[in-house]
Amino acid sequence: MKPEDATSLYPAHLSTIKERANLALQKSGFDHLLVTSGVEKHEFLDDRPYPFKPNAQFKAWLPLTRHPHSWISYTPGRKPVLVYFQPDDYWHVPPSAPSGTWVDHFDIRIISDPAEATAHLPSSGKLAIVGESDAALPGFEPNNPKVLLDYLHYHRAFKTPYELAVMRQAQRRAVPGHLAARAAFQAGASEAQVHAAYLAATGHTDLDLPYNNIIGLNQNGATLHYQYKDIVAPSRNRSLLIDAGAEVDGYASDITRTWGDGDELFGALLNAVDNEQQALCGKVRAGTDYRDLHLECHLRLGGVLRTLGIVDMDPGDMLATGVTSTFFPHGLGHPIGLQVHDVAGFSDEDGGLIARPEGHPYLRMTRTLAPGMVVTIEPGLYFIPTLLSKLKEKPQAKSVDWAKVEHLLPFGGVRIEDEVHCTDGAPENLTRDAFAAAV
Ligand code: GLY
Ligand code: MN
Ligand code: MN
Repeated sequence: MKPEDATSLYPAHLSTIKERANLALQKSGFDHLLVTSGVEKHEFLDDRPYPFKPNAQFKAWLPLTRHPHSWISYTPGRKPVLVYFQPDDYWHVPPSAPSGTWVDHFDIRIISDPAEATAHLPSSGKLAIVGESDAALPGFEPNNPKVLLDYLHYHRAFKTPYELAVMRQAQRRAVPGHLAARAAFQAGASEAQVHAAYLAATGHTDLDLPYNNIIGLNQNGATLHYQYKDIVAPSRNRSLLIDAGAEVDGYASDITRTWGDGDELFGALLNAVDNEQQALCGKVRAGTDYRDLHLECHLRLGGVLRTLGIVDMDPGDMLATGVTSTFFPHGLGHPIGLQVHDVAGFSDEDGGLIARPEGHPYLRMTRTLAPGMVVTIEPGLYFIPTLLSKLKEKPQAKSVDWAKVEHLLPFGGVRIEDEVHCTDGAPENLTRDAFAAAV
């Protein structure tokens, strides 16, 4: 499929953002919406800045991601004002002059000092100011009204055609990285070398990634958010679990692939998880309660454990007694978009909580799927020593083939993660489409 032109979809996207802002202001009783991009933070007692990450509510309006001290000021019925910070700086590269098709849609005011922003912000009326408290200017302290934010966050789950087009690009950007990572793994690379291959193939630096890559060789794949990259390769590369995304214009992808070394049992486990993952992706359909899909995932993974002879129990009993949670101790997935773990996975339109199923504390999405939503589907089966030792103390331990578990421990685990777009009909798997387009 030919990549779409996201820019031609942008004006309609902005109209949707404005409509949402109109309703959120009306609902919450404010006259103007102000959104700060945020500020650069510095290390304690130092002049070194942490990487800047903009307020996602700012990125929702326009594709600016490297722009601290900027503001959007929106009053219903009027062209939004963009206060654009462009310092005269020879220590750092300042943002270049505003450019792109979005420029015509804003009344742009350039400032060279953050304090100058106040001259361009409303001088009367009730202000809803969305942003971190550090971004406050005199008279403009972020108040983040709950009613307004609940509404905006809830609706962010529904992606506009522009957002979908950009998210497809973020998938296509990550895929060459995953293919390069697999090749590096097969060549015996270290975790740090796999990471370097990923960055080179995606054209990202560490700072541009939507989250820190998780690159676990062998048993390190069993640490769910493994945060290191060993510079020394193991004596034998048995398995690679790589959870790595890419970013385009502020939108994230979040993809996990696992590769093995040809070991028969681990290969069977990989295939089985992949099959169940694809079946679950096929169930991302309007009207489905994501919580039910999560519980179905437990049953399916229980089926895999039984079929492979790892646990000899009925999958329903495995779910009821927490055995599946030993091997699958995280949630099925989460909403994704401007943030990797996008907001409002648990809330209804009024900010009310949609509870997780009891005993599933790490599920990040409890909403009913509806057209326009994009969610990850990321089942996994892991061999995590600390959880296995707890299982050993339980009566269900007798149903476990511990020799098989011992065999699989040095492989860490398997996770397969795709992004899936819920439509009016069949789901669109953004990730598999991107892999298919790459070969
Ligand atoms: N990369 C973190 C996650 O999959 O949620
Ligand atoms: Mn994820
Ligand atoms: Mn992930």
